[in-house]
Amino acid sequence: MSKETVKKTCGGRPRRTSVKSESACRLRAVSVGCGGRAQAHIKAMLESGVVDLLAVCDLDEARLKATAERFQIAKTYRDLGEMIQKEKPELVDIVTPPTIRTSIVEPAVRAGAPAILIEKPIALKPSETRKLVELGRDRLIAVNTQYQWKPHWKRFWPILEKGGLGEVRVIRASTLANILEQAPHTLDLAMKAARLSGLPEPQWCLAGASGLEHFGQIPVPADVTATFGMGEVRLQINHGPSAPPVPGETVKWYHIQVDVLGSRGRLWVSLNQGWALWRSGKFESGKTEWGKNDGEAQSALYVHLRDTLHGGNIREFPTRVEIAARNSDLMMACYASALGGGRVQLPIPLSDDVVDRLKGLGSSTASA
Ligand SMILES: NC(=O)c1ccc[n+]([C@@H]2O[C@H](COP(=O)([O-])OP(=O)(O)OC[C@H]3O[C@@H](n4cnc5c(N)ncnc54)[C@H](O)[C@@H]3O)[C@@H](O)[C@H]2O)c1
Repeated sequence: MSKETVKKTCGGRPRRTSVKSESACRLRAVSVGCGGRAQAHIKAMLESGVVDLLAVCDLDEARLKATAERFQIAKTYRDLGEMIQKEKPELVDIVTPPTIRTSIVEPAVRAGAPAILIEKPIALKPSETRKLVELGRDRLIAVNTQYQWKPHWKRFWPILEKGGLGEVRVIRASTLANILEQAPHTLDLAMKAARLSGLPEPQWCLAGASGLEHFGQIPVPADVTATFGMGEVRLQINHGPSAPPVPGETVKWYHIQVDVLGSRGRLWVSLNQGWALWRSGKFESGKTEWGKNDGEAQSALYVHLRDTLHGGNIREFPTRVEIAARNSDLMMACYASALGGGRVQLPIPLSDDVVDRLKGLGSSTASA
């Protein structure tokens, strides 16, 4: 078969294509932010084989230059609006901190970004979550909760969808980091497991919180433990120092685990210390490895984005902002419950006041 008539997959659909038109199968992207996380994004874009990275942008000249040199990217910009208008990308990948999430997505939309990928956490306050959902009404805003594209999770999703664990009764998710830092990942996995298992959306939340950390000036509870009711099923999350450690793990940031318990089996997955699957009397286990799995997942996310933006349905992208917003609301419902609300019914109307009132968590005194 000649190269001109080789069968290719583009946008999820097999088709005959010429070598010349292969470039039409690639996703034209630009990247905003050249910090730590952007390095992993750019590496994965280039390794995915489906992305043409047209240009990179950063306000910081030294970071911009170092990143462009490292990945041999010819075009650099200091202004993201100018980059979007000149390069006309299909995807704008924004890898900046959450303190400037909405304030950077807005100008990208104004400059004409047709689709945007943002990092987690999507928002630090309920009003920011609402704003992002509004900005995503007529374009794809996807969220970089890439864990669900890890090879092991890609294998587990169909098992859960086919009821491989029987009736799911409890889902547990935990990390030693604060809720906004890591629950965007763990809740993304736990809620996807719940949906595939046919469970209803959470109907209530009962949470406790203690201590205070900050993103810039914005407070976040240092520790949250919460139970969500989904019919008869319970989702339990624990984020902060009171979370159970992952056996064998030595790095604080790697103490991330999700556990799905059903009537016929159990699936336990850790970030970096392996996974285990018990199903109908059989047992399997496998390795997980943060660096390797992260690169694989990040590349697979770009392939999925390319397929979606080249003919798929943007409303079906698994980490679109509406889904991430529902998870963000669950996190902030924990605040409302912990701040004296007791067991709160969901969905609960949330205002930014719930974040301002967290400041009280830092002022408690211990008594003997
Ligand atoms: N998904 C994951 O597994 C994962 C892992 C690590 C970090 N993150 C997330 O990635 C995000 C970024 O983290 P980071 O550590 O790379 O941040 P960082 O602060 O190291 O880098 C951000 C960069 O953005 C640049 N920037 C800020 N405003 C800009 C603007 N208007 N235009 C152009 N550039 C601008 C800054 O100069 C900086 O170089 C955070 O939300 C973080 O939580 C996600």
